[in-house]
Amino acid sequence: MDSDVTEAGQQPTHRRSEDDEGIFATVAVIGAGAMGSGIAQVAAGAGHRVVLADPVIGVAADARERISSSLDRLVGKGRLSRADADATLGRLVASESIHTLPECGLVIEAVPEDLRIKRLLFADLSERQPANTVLATNTSSIDIDAIARDVIDPERVLGLHFFNPPPVMELVEVVHGELTSPAYVEHVTALMRAWGKTPVRCASTPGFIVNRVARPFYGEAQRLVEAGVADPATVDWVLRERGGFPMGPFELTDFIGQDVNLAVGTSVWEQTDRDERYAPTDFQRRLVEAGTLGRKTGSGVYTYAADGTVEGAEPDLALAERLVGGPVATDPLARTLAMLVNEAVDLVHRGEASAEDVDIAMRLGVRYPRGPIEWGREIGFDVVAAQIAELDAAFPGGRYRPSPALSDGSLA
Ligand SMILES: NC(=O)c1ccc[n+]([C@@H]2O[C@H](COP(=O)([O-])OP(=O)(O)OC[C@H]3O[C@@H](n4cnc5c(N)ncnc54)[C@H](O)[C@@H]3O)[C@@H](O)[C@H]2O)c1
Repeated sequence: MDSDVTEAGQQPTHRRSEDDEGIFATVAVIGAGAMGSGIAQVAAGAGHRVVLADPVIGVAADARERISSSLDRLVGKGRLSRADADATLGRLVASESIHTLPECGLVIEAVPEDLRIKRLLFADLSERQPANTVLATNTSSIDIDAIARDVIDPERVLGLHFFNPPPVMELVEVVHGELTSPAYVEHVTALMRAWGKTPVRCASTPGFIVNRVARPFYGEAQRLVEAGVADPATVDWVLRERGGFPMGPFELTDFIGQDVNLAVGTSVWEQTDRDERYAPTDFQRRLVEAGTLGRKTGSGVYTYAADGTVEGAEPDLALAERLVGGPVATDPLARTLAMLVNEAVDLVHRGEASAEDVDIAMRLGVRYPRGPIEWGREIGFDVVAAQIAELDAAFPGGRYRPSPALSDGSLA
């Protein structure tokens, strides 16, 4: 694939040239579950011919039906014309064969999160598809190079990490492995923009941007409650009302599922050789062992009534007022922000993503009111460095390790 760099050395904006149309005209999405069906809808809506393939009989056809209903709902709300809805559906074909796909410009895989399945699938795709077909994975946590290990021409393998639900969520993390060619990253980044998405780029690092940087949002809150500093409702209140986060960490993990959140955290911890910074808490392990997984089981951190309201969890506002602005070790907001900033600047420091992309990813992927780098600038990186040092003194062991970028002036 040609690079997009012009003779003058400038980086032009992506042109949907005839050649690009040819290359990307047909898109295959493999795996027609929650993510695959949403991605197929987005791709067909952007004008591609789309094959949505799933080996389990009836699954792809059912997914196409669900997409049809979702398009009908958009027409009903006046957000899509009948003609566009019909044209989108008309471009989308369901298939039960993942081995007999047409030649595609792009294949996006959304099969279960299992390295063995993904690796076999990519090896097979690389033999059947043309050498310049981009092979993308929607993995949330698996290393891109591990998935590409048996692929012919592995420079065309990359991650396209969509967020759930793909038709609604604007963010896509475009993830490159060691072997991924920058030219493919460029092209796919431009393609995501053409699909109406906001792409951010990052290296294939554990958790990519969002799932890595967000870890302390959950972990610090759990540690505060474990230590008896405050109850969950009070911590949630502080993060929501004083921090401007749309949900507090406990209500959010109850919503996501404590098991799902623990699995993501554990995966990042394992992939970083059990770095203390990502160590899961006993607090969350106990919830999962007890089967109290959150809203889906009727109780998690909180207990839910049949109508979904939280039962008997009032924040202690007097306690909240005492904690906020006090020592960082017991201030839920300052402690969480310091660790979010530290994590974000460290990712940038390691060269895994740009500061701008980290901020965009956290605002769009988990709806933080501000990007953590921007927040760090506002608080002052020197202040954050002092807070992390204070936490390190209070809780030695490596979890509260300041990033060199807090004090080297590179992000000021
Ligand atoms: N659910 C999320 O919120 C979310 C968000 C971002 C990324 N992801 C990632 O997207 C991928 C898919 O997740 P999902 O939630 O859509 O899963 P899902 O279980 O809803 O769908 C997976 C689909 O893959 C099919 N499948 C099973 N084995 C297969 C095989 N060998 N080959 C091809 N297809 C096979 C299944 O029939 C199923 O329809 C995973 O890698 C996951 O980590 C999920």
